[in-house]
Amino acid sequence: MRAHEAGALHAEGYGGPPLYLPYPDDVNALLEQLWPASVIRGRSGALEVAGVDVHAIAREFGTPAYVLDEDDFRARARAFRDDFAAPFHEVCGGADVYYAGKAFLCTEVARWVAEEGLSLDVSTGGELAVAQRAGFPAARIAMHGNNKTVAEIEQALTYGVGRIVVDSLTEIERIDTVARRLGVVAPVMIRVTVGVEAHTHEFIATAHEDQKFGLSLATGAAAEAARRVVARPGSMRLVGLHSHIGSQIFDTGGFEISARRLIALHADIVREHGIEMPHIDLGGGFGIAYTSQHTPLDPARLGRLMADIVEREGKAIGVGDGSGLPRVSIEPGRAIVGPSTFTLYEVGTVKPVVVGDRMTRTYVSVDGGMSDNIRAALYEADYSCTLAGRTSGAEPMLARVVGRHCESGDIVVLDEYLPADLAPGDLIAVPGTGAYCRSLSSQYNHTPRPPVVAVRGGRARAIVRRETIDDLLALDVG
Ligand code: LLP
Repeated sequence: MRAHEAGALHAEGYGGPPLYLPYPDDVNALLEQLWPASVIRGRSGALEVAGVDVHAIAREFGTPAYVLDEDDFRARARAFRDDFAAPFHEVCGGADVYYAGKAFLCTEVARWVAEEGLSLDVSTGGELAVAQRAGFPAARIAMHGNNKTVAEIEQALTYGVGRIVVDSLTEIERIDTVARRLGVVAPVMIRVTVGVEAHTHEFIATAHEDQKFGLSLATGAAAEAARRVVARPGSMRLVGLHSHIGSQIFDTGGFEISARRLIALHADIVREHGIEMPHIDLGGGFGIAYTSQHTPLDPARLGRLMADIVEREGKAIGVGDGSGLPRVSIEPGRAIVGPSTFTLYEVGTVKPVVVGDRMTRTYVSVDGGMSDNIRAALYEADYSCTLAGRTSGAEPMLARVVGRHCESGDIVVLDEYLPADLAPGDLIAVPGTGAYCRSLSSQYNHTPRPPVVAVRGGRARAIVRRETIDDLLALDVG
């Protein structure tokens, strides 16, 4: 897929509402699976999250704002921890859950992850710096990245991270040099390209051959990487194999193939070198619901299915009796933080546009856009939204929620029914924006980024404050 320069959704060729979006019986209804657990419509008709009215959030923190339900985040983190630990316990001694910080990370969230007993996947020195500032236990950190710099490797080894996931043969030399200089032995995993075509958007599929990540299983590059790591016992120790097949995935078919190939390669390497290699990591990528078209598997079902897969694949190659299988890790990001958050916007303009013989689409401009949520423009991602500040008895109208940036591809919600009396000043909320929205946000058009407001027990507080024009100008040394 090639995106239009002005964004993948440059306004052309879009007809009526999509199939997943029926004309609503009640335009005020909330589709439960899209919202953080504590979100309800309060007595006034406005949304409340953890007992706090969205008007109060808008007044105190302004709009747009990412609003994060802390208990919802923690509950999803715990669900992955417990729902994978139990079924994997019998199969391979347990499962370790690494929260993928690239989905969203700040020091407070890193603390929650640590408190809930999860581990952490970081993919840059910047994410690692956040973890360090939060005092995240080093042994529970996995360091990723397909082009780690010498400085990042040094930062990771000095802090003492539990695993560095190697992505190229070049990087093995680089780690070797740094580890020798520091006089440490680097715990290393090898990122394996297992050759799986994950059924997701091309830009977020990561385990087919023709892309930048990992070392190929098929060409023998992964086995060669293992040889090179094992040949350097003074500077590195091979602790496992890793595979991440992609993101926003709804079935376990891809994981089945990747687990099979990873377990087989694991057994080959253990046999060839006579080493112990305690871990395999199956990556993240578990999908979430952005609209009614998505039906994600819950962690309990996922844990059971994935444990069955590992057990079956282990048995198939004769290591499935529980003793020969490496302990399994997973790396969910989106499935933990995505549904915990909604973005609160204020409506600025409401503009009916005639788009066909009998069709009018109402363009609703909000006070944010592609700078706080690039996912529609980048991946043709669908979102939904609702009138958040009140209820309405008006007829539903087909709307498109757009931002305030200078591109027609600046779309936040491609299709949604909103009440026909929607007006400037109304608050609307877009659920499912916890993952890859703040972390992919930009200052496009010199737009200060929104705050992240955490809400718990009737109290709201900014855990990332809003950027100011002074923040923007601070870097301009001109
Ligand atoms: N582990 C590795 C090695 C990864 O590369 C990723 C995501 C994850 C875990 C977590 O995947 P998750 O469970 O969050 O799907 N910006 C895109 C997603 C990019 C994913 C990058 N890697 C989006 O907004 O959809």
